[in-house]
Amino acid sequence: MASDMATILVSVSPIPPGIMPAVSVDRESAKPLHRQIYESYRNAIVERRLGARQRLPSTRSLAAELQISRIPILNAFEQLRAEGYLEGRIGSGTYVARSLPDELLKPVRRNASRGPVGKPSRRVIARRVEALLPEAAGPWFKPGPFHIGQPPLDHFPVRIWSRLVARHARSPEVHELHYGQTMGLASLRKAVAEYLKTARAVVCEPEQVMMVSGSQQALELASHVLLDPGWPVWFEEPGYFGARHALKLAGARLVPVPVDDEGLNVSAGIALCPRPRAIFVTPSHQFPLGATMSATRRLQLLDWARQSESWIIEDDYDSEYRFGNLPFSSLQGLDRDSRVIYVGTLSKTLFPALRLAYIVLPADLVDAFIRARRAMDLCSPTFPQLVLSDFIREGHFGRHVRKMRLLCRERRTALVRALREELDWLNVLGDQAGMYLAVGLPGGIQDREICERAAEEGLRVAPLSECYLETPRQGLLLGYGGTNVEEIAKGVRCLREVIESIGYARPSRGGSRTIPRSAKKRPRSPH
Ligand SMILES: Cc1ncc(COP(=O)(O)O)c(C=O)c1O
Repeated sequence: MASDMATILVSVSPIPPGIMPAVSVDRESAKPLHRQIYESYRNAIVERRLGARQRLPSTRSLAAELQISRIPILNAFEQLRAEGYLEGRIGSGTYVARSLPDELLKPVRRNASRGPVGKPSRRVIARRVEALLPEAAGPWFKPGPFHIGQPPLDHFPVRIWSRLVARHARSPEVHELHYGQTMGLASLRKAVAEYLKTARAVVCEPEQVMMVSGSQQALELASHVLLDPGWPVWFEEPGYFGARHALKLAGARLVPVPVDDEGLNVSAGIALCPRPRAIFVTPSHQFPLGATMSATRRLQLLDWARQSESWIIEDDYDSEYRFGNLPFSSLQGLDRDSRVIYVGTLSKTLFPALRLAYIVLPADLVDAFIRARRAMDLCSPTFPQLVLSDFIREGHFGRHVRKMRLLCRERRTALVRALREELDWLNVLGDQAGMYLAVGLPGGIQDREICERAAEEGLRVAPLSECYLETPRQGLLLGYGGTNVEEIAKGVRCLREVIESIGYARPSRGGSRTIPRSAKKRPRSPH
């Protein structure tokens, strides 16, 4: 037989129509032949395609039909007999057993756990997780032009990094193969503490720095350590969905507090919920509207946290990228009452797949965080930490961040220019910082609709409305960090065409916001 795949219909006697189960063997498969034959018959019996007392073909004829030796067939039959599926003796005919355990013969229903992956389960799961389900990721979370969380990965110094990886992978010390320290690798924590003191005016010692697997883990850990279910948390409105998920998973009650050009509106927060247990903020570059929190608000926030005895979680996620003016120092650096839990990530400066971030903890919280972390994943993997420690110590990190800052500035300028040329009626929001920008949409325009259509063209523009807990404002989030200047120009052109194809256009003075449906045309893909 030419094919490597042999399939025969097993003849059983009597042979009612429709019950001739197929036995297939694939010689190319890694699965041994006897196992393939065993599984074919076992399934046919359990699924009742072969009935009790039905006779199986002789091993000799089966071997001839499948063009294989008898040995795997004899082995498969032997195993089926040992497990009670078959009876009779080889040579005098082999039959499906008269009585099979009831459990085996229950009607085979497709179990929910065996259906397609990705659909929400209808079975009982924790309410906190159920509450996350409607927020499942949209198509804009896939990598591609305008993805909001993508740094300039095309400029990552891969050769230097792989040299350092090889250094540690070639001859690891025995202790490096053991469990790591819960707080993280000592040399890395020292390097991170030095960097944060210099670059972000964070007040810390290496003993307060905990390495974690991404700031997402930092937020989850902080939520578990600081909050019991139902406790109120001030949450920026609009705010970072990653933090929202972590807090909700811990059962926190989120209190949306509005943000404006000066960042979180502390007075509004006090009016809404005077005694929060924690406050989540992105003071350096408010996610997603892009404001820098003013000095007055910072002091007001710290003062209120002290008075209300609440914790502040400061997410300093992309503060390395500031283009207009000098960066504000961290909020943590101003804190005189040790209320700030400072979180920073290497996802923006290096690459997100690294999954390394750091938390700077008030000294008296270190023990609690260690206890919670031990219940989670014990510690972050040691090898990426060893590599990162060398990367920082040898000066590559500082050089890389400077290069990234220039690239991001160039890309931001290109994006603002392209938006001005193609979509000048969109309003660019926020300060000159970060790796993405937000644009506001005029009333009546649905951001999700634009983002879904843009995703069909491969663009990963994200809807601003997704960042709101309550009354959403419509807008678009456009990442430029991981999108080069040419892609930006092409992408914005395509975005304009997408917007026009839906029927949206520059609002006319008379107030009409849409162009007639007949004028719609499909956009040209940027690719
Ligand atoms: C506000 C904010 N914080 C943190 C992060 C980084 O998360 P992680 O360190 O888990 O990759 C992001 C990424 O997009 C972000 O937007």
